[in-house]
Amino acid sequence: MEASDKSKWVQIGNRWIPRTALKDGMSTNGPLDETPLYRPGLLKEIDFSEAQAKFKGSISPSNPGENLVMRPLCAADYDKGFMEVLKQLTKCGDTPREKFLARYNQMKSCPNTYFVTVIEDISKSKIIATGTVVLEQKFIRGCAERSRIEDLVVDDEYRGLQLGKLMFQTLLLLSQHLGVYKCSLECLPENIAFYENLDFKVDPQSFMQYRFKELS
Ligand SMILES: CC(C)(COP(=O)(O)OP(=O)(O)OC[C@H]1O[C@@H](n2cnc3c(N)ncnc32)[C@H](O)[C@@H]1OP(=O)(O)O)[C@@H](O)C(=O)NCCC(=O)NCCS
Repeated sequence: MEASDKSKWVQIGNRWIPRTALKDGMSTNGPLDETPLYRPGLLKEIDFSEAQAKFKGSISPSNPGENLVMRPLCAADYDKGFMEVLKQLTKCGDTPREKFLARYNQMKSCPNTYFVTVIEDISKSKIIATGTVVLEQKFIRGCAERSRIEDLVVDDEYRGLQLGKLMFQTLLLLSQHLGVYKCSLECLPENIAFYENLDFKVDPQSFMQYRFKELS
């Protein structure tokens, strides 16, 4: 690609997308947009009294703890350490602002699919937990929908405060609220007990995969 073309395109993995994909008035240098990735009312509509998990105290999505707020991801969370939290879950590679914004906008342009949720410590303007529901539309079972819970992580300074359980339970109830017939997740063997305590069952069907690349 010519140097002059590079000013018009942004590379995402192996693909190049038009720089115009960085839309909604977002600048890659200036303050980032605080528009939520999905409708925040969805979190308020969840009936948390239906939670199967037991919580100590009155913790809930609308009250995760002192100075803590649970809400949908927004682009501005990049500058609040969103990627640093994800790095505590797995390898995240190099994710400069531009690349993050392009991916964020791609997700935002798929309505009713990506429900990336965060908890912010507003006293520090810091993202301290995240988890995602991804909705998959099917033709089977009468064009039903299923969900997956992905990328659940709590910042290590905030672990043991029931936030992982709160995030998981919220995402599960969100899945139910969205009308899916089932929700699944993948996890490391050392985390099976965490999910079993929250009523998830290890499925006897084997999970199989083929890795095309080892990404850093
Ligand atoms: C796993 C993780 C999300 C738990 O978050 P957390 O906020 O520390 O957990 P909570 O305080 O909500 O713990 C809830 C309960 O789960 C238990 N628990 C926590 N981690 C556990 C684990 N790995 N295995 C078994 N039980 C666990 C707690 O003891 C607690 O039990 P209780 O309800 O009886 O008191 C967090 O440790 C983390 O982010 N780990 C690194 C990323 C990761 O592995 N994510 C999961 C991807 S599959």
